[in-house]
Amino acid sequence: MERHFTVAIDGPSGAGKSTLAKAVAQKMGALYLDTGAMYRAVGLAALERGTDMADQDQVAGLLESLQVDVRYQDGGQRVYLNGQDVSEAIRQPRVSSAASQVSAVPAVREKLVAMQRQIAQGKSVVMDGRDIGTKVLPDATLKIYLAADLEERARRRHRELRDKGLPDSYEQVRRALEKRDHDDSCRAASPLCQAADAVALDCTRLSQEQTVERVLDLLRQRLGVEA
Ligand code: DC
Repeated sequence: MERHFTVAIDGPSGAGKSTLAKAVAQKMGALYLDTGAMYRAVGLAALERGTDMADQDQVAGLLESLQVDVRYQDGGQRVYLNGQDVSEAIRQPRVSSAASQVSAVPAVREKLVAMQRQIAQGKSVVMDGRDIGTKVLPDATLKIYLAADLEERARRRHRELRDKGLPDSYEQVRRALEKRDHDDSCRAASPLCQAADAVALDCTRLSQEQTVERVLDLLRQRLGVEA
């Protein structure tokens, strides 16, 4: 396909944005960028260094000594923090909450949004996050706002963590998601919200395959190509 396209996928935690974005990117031969992984790397650094995450100046100061890199290896995205591969370490639940806290700091957002735009430059890309349609790629070919009921998201996330051998109970996972929904939607800097021109897709009762097919249909329509 000649024409470059960009797809922005936003929505609350645990709705299945990453799985959807990865599948769409693979099917359409585009690059996939999980922007949450970049906020998670900063959150991990803040935890490791004992940064007071409520102190925006301290978090901003931390950025000066941080090098966050996104690399693509064997067809997958890896995230590096000061040269070290932290792709697995950033998936711990304590890092989810740290990422949410540091993501409220404008200096963090500025740095990561600039990197995200640079990675997307001149390429077809599918990005997922909270502010992709509203801030990072305001002219995206297709914007999706992916939602699902809190209970369904908690069930999916709990299953994922259990499969990784992590001990969190369903109730802990549900409460953590509810808090992140609140914090990510209520912060002053680029809060999670649906872009005016985004297509809302509620996947509570859709399978992963059905969700991917819907988005591929929409994208092909926008691009004027046949399946
Ligand atoms: O998508 P995720 O759960 O890996 O993201 C972790 C946190 O990072 C999330 O709670 C909010 C923040 N985030 C953000 O503010 N903007 C993005 N584009 C992506 C993530």
